[in-house]
Amino acid sequence: MEKPVETRRLSKHYGRAAAVRDLDLTVEPGEVYGFLGPNGAGKTTTLRMLLGLVRPTSGSVRVRGREPRVGGHLDGVGALVEGPAFYPYLSGRDNLRVLAHHAKVRGERVATVLETVGLTDRARDRYSAYSLGMKQRLGLAAALLKDPALLILDEPTNGLDPAGMADMRVLIRELASAGRTVLLSSHLLGEVAQICDRVGVLAHGELIAEKPVDELASGATLRVVADPVDAALTLLSSLLGNERVHRDGSAIDLDADESDAGRINNELVHAGLTVTELRWHRPDLEQTFLELTGGNSHAR
Ligand SMILES: Nc1ncnc2c1ncn2[C@@H]1O[C@H](COP(=O)(O)OP(=O)(O)OP(=O)(O)O)[C@@H](O)[C@H]1O
Ligand SMILES: [Mg+2]
Repeated sequence: MEKPVETRRLSKHYGRAAAVRDLDLTVEPGEVYGFLGPNGAGKTTTLRMLLGLVRPTSGSVRVRGREPRVGGHLDGVGALVEGPAFYPYLSGRDNLRVLAHHAKVRGERVATVLETVGLTDRARDRYSAYSLGMKQRLGLAAALLKDPALLILDEPTNGLDPAGMADMRVLIRELASAGRTVLLSSHLLGEVAQICDRVGVLAHGELIAEKPVDELASGATLRVVADPVDAALTLLSSLLGNERVHRDGSAIDLDADESDAGRINNELVHAGLTVTELRWHRPDLEQTFLELTGGNSHAR
């Protein structure tokens, strides 16, 4: 089956600087793929190349099996990249009508997409009177006009308040569950983890990690504080094997499974040890992201 998005050794240079380097990106049909990276990582540049808005320096791009041509139209692709140009003095609905006319989409679609993004009640208000969240919704409505099979969204939750972000997450999941493929970018790992099935991490224009979202949070440890600690260490090593037991001062960290916790507690108590703490420690997603991208901001 043809891939919604497939790039091979895709690169974009601005002068001598590489914004995107040898990128091999594949998005599978029906998935929500999160393109994650700090400011300046090359996310927008990549998405613009996919849409034919920027010409690659080298490498290949296929979007739904076709090579995007600069200035050309992509069938079955809806996009929200950078603030789309709307007429400030027209209402949200009239802006969509203009776009629908240009895109040769039936007028009825306007009401449908307004309903989808939850803007029906404010559809008659001028665009200039919209809040940032409403503007984002209208942008998404515009991307949905042609009922695309593939949605490409550059930082769709950017600038939204927590409630607005949550709404946008639900909306994107709904759009995806209707069978669409979604490729979105973000610089927030927590955000991507909640919306996406798979995540690719971009830093300095290179894809440095790619994995299913549920693997991001793996690697939980169980922290045990028991007295006396030496006896606890001996017992736990014999139960789990040395390689899964790590002493950290007066505490012991275990590479344990969810199902092990009860048994571990029982064994310790049974051996006459005093257990004062038994606590799961899950890796912090943002910490994982910083480690993956090798530090703080890579803005250049
Ligand atoms: N038109 C341009 N001319 C020169 N350099 C550019 C141009 N567009 C992007 N760049 C550079 O390419 C790099 C990647 O930029 P890009 O906008 O793709 O990053 P991004 O991951 O989208 O960042 P952000 O999270 O800030 O949106 C940056 O160093 C940027 O300065
Ligand atoms: Mg960007």
